[in-house]
Amino acid sequence: MIKKIISIIIVLTIGFSYYPTSIGKNGVVSSSSVHASDIGIAVLQSGGNAIDAAIAVGFALGVTFPNAGNIGGGGFMVLRLANGEVSTIDFREVAPLLSDRDMFLDDSSRVIRGKSLYSAFASGVPGTVAGFGYAHEKYGTKSWESLIEPSINLAYNGFKITTRDADYLNSARRFLSRDKEASEIFVPKKKHKVGDLLIQTDLANTLKRISMYGYREFYQGLTSRRIIQCMNRTNGIISKEDLLTYKPVERKPVEFEYKGYKIYSMPPASSGGICLAEILNQIEPMNIETFDYHSPEHVQLIVEAERRAYADRAEYMGDMDFVEVPIEELISDEYALMRFTDFDFDIAMPSANIGPGLSSSYKESPETTHYSVVDKWGNAVSVTTTLNGKYGNGIVVDGAGFLLNNEMDDFSIKPGHPNKYGLIGKEANSIQPKKRMLSSMTPTIVENPSGELVLVLGSPGGSTIITTVAQIIINIIDYNMSISEAVSAPRFHHQWLPDVVFYEDGGLPTKTIKALKDKGYVFHKRKSIGEANCIQIPSNGVIFGAADSRRQASTKAY
Ligand code: DON
Repeated sequence: MIKKIISIIIVLTIGFSYYPTSIGKNGVVSSSSVHASDIGIAVLQSGGNAIDAAIAVGFALGVTFPNAGNIGGGGFMVLRLANGEVSTIDFREVAPLLSDRDMFLDDSSRVIRGKSLYSAFASGVPGTVAGFGYAHEKYGTKSWESLIEPSINLAYNGFKITTRDADYLNSARRFLSRDKEASEIFVPKKKHKVGDLLIQTDLANTLKRISMYGYREFYQGLTSRRIIQCMNRTNGIISKEDLLTYKPVERKPVEFEYKGYKIYSMPPASSGGICLAEILNQIEPMNIETFDYHSPEHVQLIVEAERRAYADRAEYMGDMDFVEVPIEELISDEYALMRFTDFDFDIAMPSANIGPGLSSSYKESPETTHYSVVDKWGNAVSVTTTLNGKYGNGIVVDGAGFLLNNEMDDFSIKPGHPNKYGLIGKEANSIQPKKRMLSSMTPTIVENPSGELVLVLGSPGGSTIITTVAQIIINIIDYNMSISEAVSAPRFHHQWLPDVVFYEDGGLPTKTIKALKDKGYVFHKRKSIGEANCIQIPSNGVIFGAADSRRQASTKAY
């Protein structure tokens, strides 16, 4: 209560620190940080396109949202040019050359607790800077320096932190104190409070170098040497060669239709696009729109489709450069029909009875970040990027001011052993040098049946990312919600194992929960699921931004 009153006083005296909705005619940016969204809009206003703005926003998040925004992590970008061409850029981290399948197991093949999350071994080779560099060389129009400059200034001069930022940083004090570099930057003697300036001089200098010498500086220049110095200090295994050989990959999107709408999403190394297609394809013939929103039937249809998609995720999905992923089969309508033949409104299908379909308890915290951008020409960009865990592995690169990821935990570190998000995997997602760990990030773009751009979507939330995106699409297409309603609507989630329906506290009607419990479903409450920062473009020339108030994100428009 006291906290609420203080927030109201702050809002009345210094204004809002976040903006959940926006409307514009020219361009919109929806991101986790008000500073990043402002920077993106400024790029658009000065004539940059959506790709330019997305790069500038990405760097800004690395400064103002250090728990997830990054230059020491990786991510995925889906982009649709105004001419209708769609592509994706995979800048996921890769396993270092010195990694091996059993690196997180002891001599008795038991998982060494915490090693894949909280040690220097947890880091994959960072891909973010190369991803932005690649996107800029191929699709950007503004100078590289101009896109990074606002972030350099924010890092040098500092920015005023919000209540949310202070809460995130204070809750990680102990974790960030373990590393001397991280501690110097993020753990002052007194706890952070709203309005404090967060100054990051080392990060500013790193960004300055990347700006002056280009993105390769991160992999070949002083920054790369600082990373190696950090590896020597912390006994990590990322080598000079790992950095020199890192490459982002441009890939064809996963592409499928839902009720006449064309959906483009991320192929492996993310499982996002395939699972999204599987979920929506299974639901498509079931006339979900005829059931009341959040009625037992509505929830059950989605839960059962999610269960089956995640069972396939565990079996078939991994980096396509290492394993063959049967994408076309998995995303086909025929497969979805076959997969859903044992669906029955009368019972909860136990996950134990659901294997892979082809013939052969965790707590969410703000750890990933999604942003969406649309410009006045109709170019659209959807980016999800992460360090994996909140503040990654908590290690800041020596003198370079940025945190390293702990993405190695997204591999199946032992077949059947759940990762941080309770997801299990098998051989397809085992560790191999230079392999990308399987992700759930689901940056997505939707066209209406006339082929026009209508939605730019995505979310953080680990395993819940895919189901968050699926439910927003259903909310809009089947229940005619606006983007703000669709983003705010309470969410639920099933991921095959554990065999549990997670739901947002207070988010589902008690009657629905009771009816489904009677059929055998088990429910677990979660504080919140996802943070979807999205954009909707109805065909009346107006663009709507929606930023998720669950984590106080901000959308801006002009
Ligand atoms: O790539 C993935 O699927 C995870 N590393 C994403 C982590 C995440 O979304 C954390 N956010 N709450």
